[in-house]
Amino acid sequence: MRVLVIGSGAREHALLLALRRDPQVTGLAIAPGNAGTARVAEQRDVDIASGDEVVALARDVRADLVVIGPEVPLVLGVADAVRAAGIACFGPSAAAARIEGSKAFAKDVMSAAGVSTAVSEIVDNPALLDAALDRFGPPNGDPAWVVKDDRLAAGKGVVVTPDREVARAHAAGLLEAGHPVLLESYLDGPEVSLFCVVDDHTVVPLLPAQDFKRVGDGDTGPNTGGMGAYAPLPWLPEDVHRSIVADIVEPVAAELARRGCPFSGLLYVGLAITAKGPAVVEFNCRFGDPETQAVLALLESPLGQLLHAAATGVLADFGELRWSDGAAVAVVLAAENYPGRPRVGDVIVGSEAEGVLHAGTARRQDGEIVSSGGRVLSVVGTGADLAAARAAAYHILDSIRLPGSHFRSDIGLAAAEGRIRV
Ligand code: GLY
Repeated sequence: MRVLVIGSGAREHALLLALRRDPQVTGLAIAPGNAGTARVAEQRDVDIASGDEVVALARDVRADLVVIGPEVPLVLGVADAVRAAGIACFGPSAAAARIEGSKAFAKDVMSAAGVSTAVSEIVDNPALLDAALDRFGPPNGDPAWVVKDDRLAAGKGVVVTPDREVARAHAAGLLEAGHPVLLESYLDGPEVSLFCVVDDHTVVPLLPAQDFKRVGDGDTGPNTGGMGAYAPLPWLPEDVHRSIVADIVEPVAAELARRGCPFSGLLYVGLAITAKGPAVVEFNCRFGDPETQAVLALLESPLGQLLHAAATGVLADFGELRWSDGAAVAVVLAAENYPGRPRVGDVIVGSEAEGVLHAGTARRQDGEIVSSGGRVLSVVGTGADLAAARAAAYHILDSIRLPGSHFRSDIGLAAAEGRIRV
C-alpha cells in the first residue's frame, strides 16, 4: 500500500514513522512536509487547502490511501475531493469536520447526544460583550473566564484568566478582527486527550494522553498549540476511560451518523475529569499535536492497515489494538518568542538524532537544517514508565542546540510523581 500524508508538522512526522513500521506499507509520500519528513518519505509540494491539487498529487504518487493531518483542509472538504476521485482517504468529510470547525455545531451535537460539556455562549456583537462576561467567570463562582476564538486558531485563540480586564481585552480584540467569541464555563480537573479511530458507528480508542498547553513550567504563561504530552495516563481509572468511549465518543459518532454526516477518520475528544465526571472541553476532527507523537510511539498494531480499514468502512473487523508496555513523553522545542511571532532561520544542531520529530524546520540551500516556525521539534522518549520516558526525552533534548529556543521541563512530571488524582 502506498500512502500519501498531507501536512507538515511533528504529528505528520510521527504518522510517517508509524506507517513505515507497517509491513503492508510499501511507499510513503508527504506534502508539503519539513526537513525531517524529507528523510523518511518522498517529499512533494501541495496547497493543502486545494482538493484538486491533493487529488492530482495522490494520482501522481499512485497513493492507495491519503491521510490528511491538519484540520484546515478537512474543514474545507479536501477529504471529500479525494474520496470523490475514488481514492481511500483517512479524514472526515467537511460536513463531519464541523465538529471542530464550528463550535456552535459541536455544542449542538453534544447536547443532542446527551454529553456533558461546558456551558457556553457565542458573542458576535461588541455591545453585548460586557453583559456576557458578567454571566461567566468569578462573579458566577468559576475560578476564571474562558475566552475562545470561535474560528480555527491552532489552540492559540484561548485565554483562561481570573482577570476580567484580560478576558475582556482578548474578547474585544477577537471581535475587532471580525471573529465571533466563545465564552465558556471553566471545567476544573485534569485534562485528557483521547483519540479514537472512527468509521461511522465503530469507535476504536487509542491510548489516552495528556498535553500541556501553557508555554511555561507549572502551567504558566499564554496558551500555545501544545508544549508536550505523555501517554498513557497512569492516574486515569480504566472505568473512566471506558465511559469516555461509551458515554461520550460513541453517542457523538452515532449523532453525527443520524444527522447524515457520519464521521470517518480521527475523532479527538479533549476532556476535563471534573468532580462530577468527564466533561468535554472540545472535539477535534484530526490527530492532536503533540499527543500523537507520544501515542504513536507506543503503537504496535500496523497503522497503515488501521487507517485504511477506517477509510474503507471495515474498521469493525480490525480487532483490538496492540501497544508496547511502558510510557512515552514528547517535549516540544519552541523558537524564541513563541507563541508570539517566533524567531526563525537559525541553524539547529542535533535535529537528526533518533526520537527527534520535526515541525517548523527547513533545509537551507547549503544543507543546514534551520528553524522555520514556532514549534520547531518534538523530542520523544520512551521507557518502562513515565520517569524513564521523561529521562529519555530530556536526555535527547540536552544534545540539541537552537539559539533562543525554550521547552518545558515538567512534561509528565506530576503524573510520574503520582500527584494527579481524580
Ligand atoms: N493538542 C492540541 C491540539 O492538537 O489541538
